[in-house]
Amino acid sequence: MTSRYSRISGTGGYLPPRRVGNDELVAELAARGIETSDEWIAQRSGIKARHFAAPDVAASDLALPAARAAIEAAGVNPGEIDLIVLATSTPDMVFPSTAAIVQHKLSQSYAAEGVTLAGCPVFDVQAVCSGFIYALTVADAMIARGTARKALVIGAEVFSRILDFNDRGTCVLFGDGAGAVVLEASDRPGILATDLHADGKYVDILCVPGHVSGGQVLGSPLLKMDGQAVFKLAVGVLEKSARAVLAKAGKQASDVDWLIPHQANIRIMQGTARKLRLPPEKMVVTVHDHGNTSAASIPLALDYGVRCGQVCPGQLVLLEGVGGGFTWGAVLVEM
Ligand code: UT7
Repeated sequence: MTSRYSRISGTGGYLPPRRVGNDELVAELAARGIETSDEWIAQRSGIKARHFAAPDVAASDLALPAARAAIEAAGVNPGEIDLIVLATSTPDMVFPSTAAIVQHKLSQSYAAEGVTLAGCPVFDVQAVCSGFIYALTVADAMIARGTARKALVIGAEVFSRILDFNDRGTCVLFGDGAGAVVLEASDRPGILATDLHADGKYVDILCVPGHVSGGQVLGSPLLKMDGQAVFKLAVGVLEKSARAVLAKAGKQASDVDWLIPHQANIRIMQGTARKLRLPPEKMVVTVHDHGNTSAASIPLALDYGVRCGQVCPGQLVLLEGVGGGFTWGAVLVEM
């Protein structure tokens, strides 16, 4: 029997232990001859710290504890997970998918309990900072279609690997981390509405242009961003997408209990809240402590909101993402 809806039944998050405050990063960059300051970073972006993974740690290593925490919070038997969708722009390998690697690591981690996740479909989604919104939308559609009943939806990134530490306009903004949710089939909604968009004419404003050819990377393997262009586009599309999911679900902005936007820049986040006439107290904010963790930022912020008692069952939560592609979208969910 298929259920029409999907619900988030558990959330999890994981940040690598090395927390790098602005002062530490400013000092590291000064040693390389790059001038910046805590004031500039905090005032322009709201970021005070970010977490960086150790050199031998991959996206799957961050995804594993986040996924385990979500499974535990949902109280599901991990052997019943029948779909893994993982959003990342910093995969462990060119292929196979990081989702496949996480599937195997999860099976290994539960082996003592005689549990395996082997056999279920797994794949990565690549939509940069909108990746989690895309992944959640795809998993919701597969559950609504009856293709899956208990999905693990993950955002995991090691963005520190693709940062150009000679470019002060970008390297101070990003961090590493992973967030996850368990999405279960249900007879009552859950996910009320989704809205996805992209416009490939903006590929160049946020990209890692390098590609693998003949056994080497051709072009730059490091992130490039036209920050002002991204900023201007982001505020406009985030408002539109928020209004679209609200309209699809027959809700008003005033019905929203929590706005959980992609955590890229506090000024973009506050601008979106203002346009929706939502008071700043209704927004979950982690950007000050996490930086921009790309596809991981929304599930990390959701998990933070749930675990610190802000986001409660029955509340209406508006998730919003925007990023390279250019991609954007929103998901309206009743917790
Ligand atoms: O996750 C995907 C989505 N990404 C985003 O949403 C990012 C969107 N963009 C932004 O968040 C902002 O545009 C930034 C935080 C990247 C930049 O803020 P801004 O207010 O747009 O600054 P700006 O790029 O206009 O730069 C202003 C000045 C420039 O100097 P001049 O030309 O005015 O003399 C920059 O060279 O700030 C300078 N600058 C810095 N100064 C100190 C740029 N980076 C730094 C730095 N420290 N780290």
